[in-house]
Amino acid sequence: MRDVIEIETERLRLRPLRMSDAGRVARFAGDPGVARMILRAPVPYLECAAEGWIMTLNARAPLGADFVFAADVEGEGLVGVIGAHKRGDDSFEVGYWFGRPYWGQGYATEALRGFVSAAQSLGPLQAGHFVDNPASGRVLEKGGFAYTGETETLYSLGRNARVPAKRMRYAPAMERGVGAREAVAC
Ligand SMILES: CC(C)(COP(=O)(O)OP(=O)(O)OC[C@H]1O[C@@H](n2cnc3c(N)ncnc32)[C@H](O)[C@@H]1OP(=O)(O)O)[C@@H](O)C(=O)NCCC(=O)NCCS
Repeated sequence: MRDVIEIETERLRLRPLRMSDAGRVARFAGDPGVARMILRAPVPYLECAAEGWIMTLNARAPLGADFVFAADVEGEGLVGVIGAHKRGDDSFEVGYWFGRPYWGQGYATEALRGFVSAAQSLGPLQAGHFVDNPASGRVLEKGGFAYTGETETLYSLGRNARVPAKRMRYAPAMERGVGAREAVAC
Protein backbone atom coordinates (compact mmCIF):
# COMPACT_ATOMS: atom_id res chain seq x y z
CA MET A 1 0.00 0.00 0.00
CA ARG A 2 2.81 2.38 0.84
CA ASP A 3 3.91 2.37 -2.80
CA VAL A 4 0.39 2.56 -4.24
CA ILE A 5 -0.17 5.83 -6.06
CA GLU A 6 -3.40 5.00 -7.89
CA ILE A 7 -6.06 2.30 -7.77
CA GLU A 8 -8.20 1.67 -10.84
CA THR A 9 -11.64 0.12 -10.56
CA GLU A 10 -14.22 -0.37 -13.29
CA ARG A 11 -15.56 3.21 -13.11
CA LEU A 12 -13.32 4.96 -10.60
CA ARG A 13 -9.77 6.17 -10.36
CA LEU A 14 -8.52 6.46 -6.78
CA ARG A 15 -5.68 8.98 -6.77
CA PRO A 16 -3.90 11.32 -4.34
CA LEU A 17 -5.75 14.46 -3.27
CA ARG A 18 -4.50 17.77 -4.64
CA MET A 19 -5.17 21.34 -3.59
CA SER A 20 -7.44 21.89 -6.59
CA ASP A 21 -9.86 19.32 -5.07
CA ALA A 22 -10.63 21.66 -2.15
CA GLY A 23 -13.72 23.21 -3.77
CA ARG A 24 -15.43 19.87 -4.41
CA VAL A 25 -14.35 18.45 -1.03
CA ALA A 26 -15.87 21.45 0.76
CA ARG A 27 -19.06 21.36 -1.31
CA PHE A 28 -19.72 17.62 -0.95
CA ALA A 29 -18.42 16.96 2.58
CA GLY A 30 -20.01 20.19 3.84
CA ASP A 31 -23.45 18.89 2.84
CA PRO A 32 -25.11 18.33 6.24
CA GLY A 33 -26.31 14.91 5.07
CA VAL A 34 -22.68 13.87 4.54
CA ALA A 35 -21.05 15.77 7.41
CA ARG A 36 -23.39 14.27 10.02
CA MET A 37 -22.30 10.74 9.07
CA ILE A 38 -18.55 11.37 9.37
CA LEU A 39 -16.33 12.60 12.18
CA ARG A 40 -14.55 15.81 11.25
CA ALA A 41 -16.42 17.76 8.57
CA PRO A 42 -17.55 21.21 9.70
CA VAL A 43 -20.81 22.75 8.49
CA PRO A 44 -20.39 25.09 6.71
CA TYR A 45 -17.21 23.64 5.21
CA LEU A 46 -15.21 26.49 3.70
CA GLU A 47 -12.89 25.84 0.78
CA CYS A 48 -9.94 27.16 2.80
CA ALA A 49 -10.69 24.54 5.49
CA ALA A 50 -10.58 21.82 2.83
CA GLU A 51 -7.26 23.25 1.61
CA GLY A 52 -5.93 23.00 5.16
CA TRP A 53 -7.09 19.38 5.42
CA ILE A 54 -5.41 18.43 2.12
CA MET A 55 -2.24 20.29 3.13
CA THR A 56 -2.15 18.44 6.45
CA LEU A 57 -2.64 15.08 4.76
CA ASN A 58 0.20 15.79 2.35
CA ALA A 59 2.49 16.96 5.17
CA ARG A 60 1.75 13.78 7.15
CA ALA A 61 2.38 11.47 4.18
CA PRO A 62 5.94 10.52 5.28
CA LEU A 63 4.54 9.17 8.58
CA GLY A 64 2.79 6.33 6.73
CA ALA A 65 -0.25 6.77 8.95
CA ASP A 66 -2.80 8.07 6.43
CA PHE A 67 -3.69 6.62 3.03
CA VAL A 68 -6.39 8.82 1.57
CA PHE A 69 -7.52 8.93 -2.05
CA ALA A 70 -9.84 11.05 -4.14
CA ALA A 71 -12.34 8.92 -6.08
CA ASP A 72 -12.61 10.32 -9.60
CA VAL A 73 -15.22 9.55 -12.23
CA GLU A 74 -14.13 10.35 -15.76
CA GLY A 75 -15.70 13.58 -16.95
CA GLU A 76 -16.82 14.54 -13.42
CA GLY A 77 -13.68 14.80 -11.31
CA LEU A 78 -13.74 14.06 -7.59
CA VAL A 79 -16.97 12.38 -6.51
CA GLY A 80 -15.84 11.11 -3.12
CA VAL A 81 -12.96 10.35 -0.80
CA ILE A 82 -11.83 7.03 0.68
CA GLY A 83 -8.94 6.18 2.93
CA ALA A 84 -7.54 4.64 6.07
CA HIS A 85 -5.89 6.14 9.13
CA LYS A 86 -3.62 4.33 11.58
CA ARG A 87 -5.26 3.64 14.93
CA GLY A 88 -3.46 3.46 18.26
CA ASP A 89 -3.01 -0.31 17.84
CA ASP A 90 -1.61 -2.02 14.74
CA SER A 91 -4.83 -1.65 12.75
CA PHE A 92 -6.13 0.93 10.27
CA GLU A 93 -9.55 2.61 10.31
CA VAL A 94 -11.23 2.79 6.91
CA GLY A 95 -13.55 5.69 6.09
CA TYR A 96 -15.19 7.27 3.07
CA TRP A 97 -17.84 9.66 1.84
CA PHE A 98 -19.38 10.39 -1.53
CA GLY A 99 -21.04 13.55 -2.83
CA ARG A 100 -24.82 13.44 -2.67
CA PRO A 101 -25.29 13.71 -6.48
CA TYR A 102 -23.42 10.41 -6.79
CA TRP A 103 -25.24 8.31 -4.18
CA GLY A 104 -27.06 5.13 -5.09
CA GLN A 105 -24.89 4.19 -8.07
CA GLY A 106 -22.62 1.67 -6.37
CA TYR A 107 -19.63 4.00 -6.24
CA ALA A 108 -18.93 3.59 -2.51
CA THR A 109 -19.02 -0.20 -2.76
CA GLU A 110 -16.79 -0.18 -5.83
CA ALA A 111 -14.30 2.20 -4.20
CA LEU A 112 -14.24 0.21 -0.95
CA ARG A 113 -13.60 -3.08 -2.73
CA GLY A 114 -10.78 -1.54 -4.76
CA PHE A 115 -9.33 0.16 -1.73
CA VAL A 116 -9.32 -2.87 0.59
CA SER A 117 -7.79 -5.09 -2.06
CA ALA A 118 -4.82 -2.70 -2.11
CA ALA A 119 -4.85 -1.92 1.63
CA GLN A 120 -4.69 -5.40 3.12
CA SER A 121 -0.92 -5.17 3.40
CA LEU A 122 -1.42 -2.41 5.99
CA GLY A 123 -2.64 -4.92 8.58
CA PRO A 124 -6.07 -5.45 10.15
CA LEU A 125 -8.72 -3.11 8.75
CA GLN A 126 -11.53 -1.77 10.90
CA ALA A 127 -14.45 0.55 10.27
CA GLY A 128 -17.59 1.81 11.91
CA HIS A 129 -20.78 3.60 11.09
CA PHE A 130 -23.19 5.66 13.14
CA VAL A 131 -26.27 3.70 14.21
CA ASP A 132 -28.49 5.87 12.01
CA ASN A 133 -26.44 5.16 8.88
CA PRO A 134 -27.48 1.69 7.69
CA ALA A 135 -26.49 2.53 4.10
CA SER A 136 -22.84 2.64 5.15
CA GLY A 137 -23.25 -0.63 7.03
CA ARG A 138 -24.52 -2.16 3.80
CA VAL A 139 -21.55 -0.77 1.85
CA LEU A 140 -19.14 -2.18 4.44
CA GLU A 141 -20.82 -5.60 4.40
CA LYS A 142 -20.65 -5.69 0.60
CA GLY A 143 -16.99 -4.72 0.88
CA GLY A 144 -16.19 -7.71 3.12
CA PHE A 145 -16.59 -6.18 6.59
CA ALA A 146 -18.52 -7.89 9.40
CA TYR A 147 -20.00 -6.53 12.61
CA THR A 148 -17.97 -7.15 15.75
CA GLY A 149 -20.98 -6.64 18.01
CA GLU A 150 -19.29 -3.66 19.68
CA THR A 151 -20.52 -0.09 19.78
CA GLU A 152 -18.36 2.98 20.32
CA THR A 153 -19.64 6.50 20.94
CA LEU A 154 -17.85 9.06 18.75
CA TYR A 155 -18.06 12.81 18.33
CA SER A 156 -19.34 14.09 14.98
CA LEU A 157 -18.31 17.68 14.28
CA GLY A 158 -21.05 17.99 11.66
CA ARG A 159 -23.69 17.29 14.34
CA ASN A 160 -21.78 18.71 17.28
CA ALA A 161 -22.88 15.62 19.14
CA ARG A 162 -21.62 12.26 20.32
CA VAL A 163 -23.29 9.40 18.53
CA PRO A 164 -23.05 5.61 18.97
CA ALA A 165 -21.31 3.82 16.11
CA LYS A 166 -21.36 0.12 15.26
CA ARG A 167 -17.91 -1.40 14.90
CA MET A 168 -16.89 -3.65 12.02
CA ARG A 169 -13.74 -5.40 10.88
CA TYR A 170 -12.60 -6.59 7.51
CA ALA A 171 -13.38 -10.29 7.39
CA PRO A 172 -13.50 -11.71 3.86
CA ALA A 173 -16.08 -14.43 3.15
CA MET A 174 -13.74 -17.39 3.64
CA GLU A 175 -12.65 -16.11 7.05
CA ARG A 176 -16.31 -15.79 8.09
CA GLY A 177 -16.91 -19.40 7.06
CA VAL A 178 -19.23 -18.52 4.16
CA GLY A 179 -17.16 -20.62 1.75
CA ALA A 180 -17.29 -23.55 4.16
CA ARG A 181 -21.09 -23.35 4.46
CA GLU A 182 -21.45 -23.15 0.70
CA ALA A 183 -19.23 -26.19 0.32
CA VAL A 184 -21.44 -28.18 2.70
CA ALA A 185 -24.56 -27.08 0.81
CA CYS A 186 -23.10 -28.46 -2.43
C1 LIG B 1 -23.09 5.89 2.72
C2 LIG B 1 -22.58 6.28 1.34
C3 LIG B 1 -21.06 6.20 1.33
C4 LIG B 1 -23.14 5.30 0.31
O1 LIG B 1 -22.61 5.63 -0.96
P1 LIG B 1 -23.25 5.02 -2.28
O2 LIG B 1 -22.28 5.25 -3.38
O3 LIG B 1 -24.64 5.52 -2.43
O4 LIG B 1 -23.29 3.47 -1.88
P2 LIG B 1 -23.59 2.22 -2.83
O5 LIG B 1 -24.47 2.68 -3.96
O6 LIG B 1 -22.31 1.55 -3.18
O7 LIG B 1 -24.37 1.24 -1.85
C5 LIG B 1 -25.37 1.72 -0.96
C6 LIG B 1 -26.10 0.53 -0.38
O8 LIG B 1 -26.82 0.96 0.76
C7 LIG B 1 -28.19 0.61 0.60
N1 LIG B 1 -28.97 1.58 1.33
C8 LIG B 1 -29.24 2.85 1.00
N2 LIG B 1 -30.00 3.42 1.94
C9 LIG B 1 -30.21 2.48 2.89
C10 LIG B 1 -30.91 2.45 4.12
N3 LIG B 1 -31.56 3.53 4.57
N4 LIG B 1 -30.90 1.30 4.83
C11 LIG B 1 -30.24 0.22 4.40
N5 LIG B 1 -29.53 0.17 3.24
C12 LIG B 1 -29.54 1.31 2.50
C13 LIG B 1 -28.41 0.62 -0.88
O9 LIG B 1 -29.58 -0.10 -1.22
C14 LIG B 1 -27.13 -0.06 -1.34
O10 LIG B 1 -27.14 -1.44 -1.10
P3 LIG B 1 -27.54 -2.50 -2.29
O11 LIG B 1 -26.54 -2.30 -3.39
O12 LIG B 1 -27.42 -3.83 -1.64
O13 LIG B 1 -28.93 -2.16 -2.73
C15 LIG B 1 -23.03 7.72 0.94
O14 LIG B 1 -24.42 7.82 1.08
C16 LIG B 1 -22.38 8.79 1.78
O15 LIG B 1 -21.29 9.26 1.46
N6 LIG B 1 -23.05 9.17 2.88
C17 LIG B 1 -22.56 10.21 3.78
C18 LIG B 1 -21.18 9.91 4.37
C19 LIG B 1 -21.10 8.53 4.97
O16 LIG B 1 -22.09 7.98 5.44
N7 LIG B 1 -19.89 7.98 4.97
C20 LIG B 1 -19.66 6.72 5.62
C21 LIG B 1 -19.41 6.94 7.07
S1 LIG B 1 -19.30 5.41 7.98
